[in-house]
Amino acid sequence: QTDIPNVKSVVTEFPVGAAITGAEILGEHGQLLSKHFNSVTPGNALKWDATEPTENTFNYTQADPLIAYATANGLAIRGHTLVWHNQTPSWVFLRADGTAMTGTADDKTLLLARLTNHIRNVAGHYGTSIGTWDVVNEVIDESQSDGMRRSSWFTITGLDYIRTAFKVAREVLPSAKLCINDYNTNVAAKRDALYNLVSTLKGEGIPIDCVGHQMHINVSWPTTADTEAMIQKFVPLGVTQQITEMDVSIYTSSSETFPTPPADRLLSQAYKYRDMFALFRKYASAISSVTLWGLADDNTWLDTYPVSRKDAPLLFDTTLQAKSAYWGVVDPT
Ligand code: XIL
Repeated sequence: QTDIPNVKSVVTEFPVGAAITGAEILGEHGQLLSKHFNSVTPGNALKWDATEPTENTFNYTQADPLIAYATANGLAIRGHTLVWHNQTPSWVFLRADGTAMTGTADDKTLLLARLTNHIRNVAGHYGTSIGTWDVVNEVIDESQSDGMRRSSWFTITGLDYIRTAFKVAREVLPSAKLCINDYNTNVAAKRDALYNLVSTLKGEGIPIDCVGHQMHINVSWPTTADTEAMIQKFVPLGVTQQITEMDVSIYTSSSETFPTPPADRLLSQAYKYRDMFALFRKYASAISSVTLWGLADDNTWLDTYPVSRKDAPLLFDTTLQAKSAYWGVVDPT
């Protein structure tokens, strides 16, 4: 399909990216990626379990080829992610004697030292070639009265792991955009908890530049109005906003399964992409990039999450052909 418009030449208000977790830089996938997109996010290769599987032994063999491809093809890179509760090796939360940390003063000191060492190494390895980092990922749990997820990071250090992560990232990368990233930020309670955290930390001088909205959505959720409220909420904080992991599931509940994507769902999906991209473009002064969580439907995390079933959440199908969803983005009339 050399005759169809490039997404990046139609949507010029901000870079448009795709996450890559497999062989998307090779062959026809690589051609599709650099034709349509001007940003990439390594979907797994920069997570802690990939980059520091054992203490102070850093491994960049997964990420380096992706970064080299991006740099060679003029693609911006979103670094994902320095701190998360998933895909983090268990050694991180163990004391030197092998027992579990509980949150003593010594535990906290050791954990923050490990965090500092990790960020200095990983962010330092790539330097200015990664312009934006998800410094912390998914720290909010709006069901808690203080809004904070009870991860090991939080139970051992309180908010200090977030403070330390942003301060160290800023020391290493004075001009990178530093983001706090989360999902379901279109839901009022989640959005408000995230807003309160960012507001508090920015008030302390913690260098948060950016709020990342994952936007794992589906064909009938959320509404444009809720998504607009999400964007508007963060404008007064003086942060830029990024859509970091967008995909639009064809499923509206975890009990559905379709052997092949139904035509009506693919049409609803096209309208959802159309409406969301129209909204993002309307708020282009607040939004500095939009990334999809995958290139084509042949490789999507939704095939195994939340249950095992074939999903089709992206702009290109399993044979890399443009879907109605693609046309919703490039031809929104
Ligand atoms: C997912 C990857 O796509 C999968 O390959 C991996 O098995 C699990 O993680 N939110 C995030 C991403 O911030 O890091 C997740 O990526 C998807 C949900």
